[in-house]
Amino acid sequence: MLLSQEEMSFDFGGARLDPERDRELLVWIFNQFLYGEVTGIQVGHWLYRAPTLDAANFLARQAVEELQHVDRFNEILGLLSARPGESHAAVRFLSSGMMGDDWAEHVCLEMALGEGYVLNVLYALINTLDHEKIRSILSKATRQEERHVAFGESETIKAVRQNPAVKSRLLGLSLWSLLGIDVLARAVRRRSSEGHPLLEQFPAFLRHVRGSTELRLERMGLLEKPVSEMGFLARSSKMGRAALGHSARRLWPGRRPRLTKTYLVDSRLGPNGIQA
Ligand SMILES: [Fe+2]
Ligand SMILES: [Fe+2]
Repeated sequence: MLLSQEEMSFDFGGARLDPERDRELLVWIFNQFLYGEVTGIQVGHWLYRAPTLDAANFLARQAVEELQHVDRFNEILGLLSARPGESHAAVRFLSSGMMGDDWAEHVCLEMALGEGYVLNVLYALINTLDHEKIRSILSKATRQEERHVAFGESETIKAVRQNPAVKSRLLGLSLWSLLGIDVLARAVRRRSSEGHPLLEQFPAFLRHVRGSTELRLERMGLLEKPVSEMGFLARSSKMGRAALGHSARRLWPGRRPRLTKTYLVDSRLGPNGIQA
């Protein structure tokens, strides 16, 4: 990954989440994760459109992992004596509403950014939740999510290198994605009780998530200066143009040849046989 675990982790200064005291909030959080993992079915859409055999292999494995995560989060809800429940509209927007219209949008918004947010929260839970079994389940899923984010980052860099024109659209859509995070943060704040040692720090945690996302955008070559220095007009115009480009692609999707047409020139089928 372009960011280390340390860079993505937030220091809550020793504050903890208690599985009994904070049960209601934890159940709400894990229900959001559950929805996000079910959107693993969207990987099937991208497998059909994978640009290379390597990408297709990655996606096939990712689909299995995400569906296994559905079982793991259901198991966690069981450990909290809860049943699966509804997701929040902002989570549905970030996971399904932000679904890309082409490969570049998918790898940047859903994988590098979207799964990056998931990692921010996973690290926070692993560092603060007083429940060993749940932490161990989360740690295993985290290693797989790190691979998903790393793949999203490297594919985004490749996509921009191949077609620098997509850079501005990806940045504009990333700003929309950050807006979704703000909405979600307000929902969590409404659930927090006064004086909670960890939730009191939630605004600072959110600034950290935004900061690490901006750092990721910078290291992928999409962002040149902090979003806060961009100015309202520049930000709005980037977001407006990106939304327009996104909708236009929905109406007139590009026709990229499928792997069944291109596999003979795919680097994976080189003269030395199938790569490991
Ligand atoms: Fe997952
Ligand atoms: Fe994932």
